[in-house]
Amino acid sequence: MIDYPELAGQARELLAGESYPVANAANLSSLVFHALPEVNWAGFYFFDGTELVVGPFQGKPACVRIPLDRGVCGAAARTRVTQLVPDVHAVADHIACDPDSRSELVVPIVKNGQLLGVFDMDSPVTGRFSDDDRRGIEQIVDVFVASLADEAPLIPDA
Ligand code: SME
Repeated sequence: MIDYPELAGQARELLAGESYPVANAANLSSLVFHALPEVNWAGFYFFDGTELVVGPFQGKPACVRIPLDRGVCGAAARTRVTQLVPDVHAVADHIACDPDSRSELVVPIVKNGQLLGVFDMDSPVTGRFSDDDRRGIEQIVDVFVASLADEAPLIPDA
């Protein structure tokens, strides 16, 4: 099991004193990707005011733009509720960026009531993500949100 309080501490150290979203998103996706076994993609989609646009990530190249009414990432953004999908093949609406992906965890990123994007993780293993992972990754996303300036969108002019 991952020591999430420890990982969140590392995340805070990594982001300390920095508010540039791309830098913080890049370092967080690397931290999480290397800390969690059996993960083939970990990274950010930023909300541009209309749809999700891929941001810093670790893993294979991914779908660039995701409308809010599509896929697991769209559902997380639309409902602002974390989506934990044990078997993506059971979700008709799943967008297969990588055919190897079997399970998925997507956490919405919201600051001061504004949707900023989502943090997405994919695994080649069915049922990879537990409730413990959900709570832990939500904590990491909180660290990201806390690092950001109050009114700055992740995508300038968004
Ligand atoms: N599977 C996601 C798309 C994003 S990629 O897997 C990186 C979805 O259904 O929203």
